[in-house]
Amino acid sequence: MITGRTVVAGVAGQPVAHSLSPVLHNAWLAAAGLDGVYVAFPLARDGFERFARGLQGGAVRGLNVTVPFKEAALAVADGVSEIAQRSGAANVLTFEADGRILADNTDGLGLLQAFAVQAPAWEPAGGPVVVLGAGGAARGAVAALLLAGAPKVFVINRTHAKAEALARTMGSRAVAMPMSDAPRAFAQATAVINATSAGLSGEGDLDAPLGATDDRCVVMDMVYRPLETPFLKRARALGRTTVDGLEMLIGQARPSFETFFGEPPPADVDVRALALAHMETTR
Ligand code: ATR
Repeated sequence: MITGRTVVAGVAGQPVAHSLSPVLHNAWLAAAGLDGVYVAFPLARDGFERFARGLQGGAVRGLNVTVPFKEAALAVADGVSEIAQRSGAANVLTFEADGRILADNTDGLGLLQAFAVQAPAWEPAGGPVVVLGAGGAARGAVAALLLAGAPKVFVINRTHAKAEALARTMGSRAVAMPMSDAPRAFAQATAVINATSAGLSGEGDLDAPLGATDDRCVVMDMVYRPLETPFLKRARALGRTTVDGLEMLIGQARPSFETFFGEPPPADVDVRALALAHMETTR
């Protein structure tokens, strides 16, 4: 029931109608018996700052922020967490009563949590990791892996100059590798993470030498529509342990929920099953 005390949070994006975040958060709210609601806010492409400024003061407790507003979310904030700063983007904003806007980024936690669930034997500090891509998603992944203790992160991207630019801002443990050196990087990697948008909505597979990976290498794709991308399918056919983008989405949502509603989400809700069922109906 919506009351006069209902705490409001939501997700801002464009497009956002197919977002799974309202499904996850509202299932947790219902199970926890909390007086809260979580809605989607579709914004005009140039409308993020105006919208966020309008929420100053906390009538809406907080926002998750998705494509294409994660950089704008960082820019509008008065206080920024270390990981959001390093990621160059924010996926969580909270609106304080005094008018301040605070930015955080839980995508990296989501990434690590997804590995913890689907590849529990893997450790970030256990060896080099390959990140494919050099956009915003890749930047967040590299920042989180370095903070978690990865001794080396190889950044490989179709446009090599962008990989170099990303690695330069991340310190000496991030190293840009040209595509031609990918087999060498893959052979050393304890994990290969696809942070490109290839594979999204049935796009083709990446030209990535997965066959060069060690048997124990874990392969992850951040894309979750489809759940099993061509890249993950190929990894699974090679016998590699795989981690999917849906588990990462759930992993970033958990700490967001706690920020907005003041307690961790209840553990006994199978939000993955709910999300999968929802994906079926919105294909
Ligand atoms: P995001 O914010 O999701 O990271 P982005 O900033 O647009 O999105 O970055 C998309 C990334 O996916 C880029 O690294 C892009 O490579 P380029 O820098 O060469 O453009 C990568 N990408 C997209 N489609 C790809 C494909 N079919 N093959 C390889 N890389 C691809």
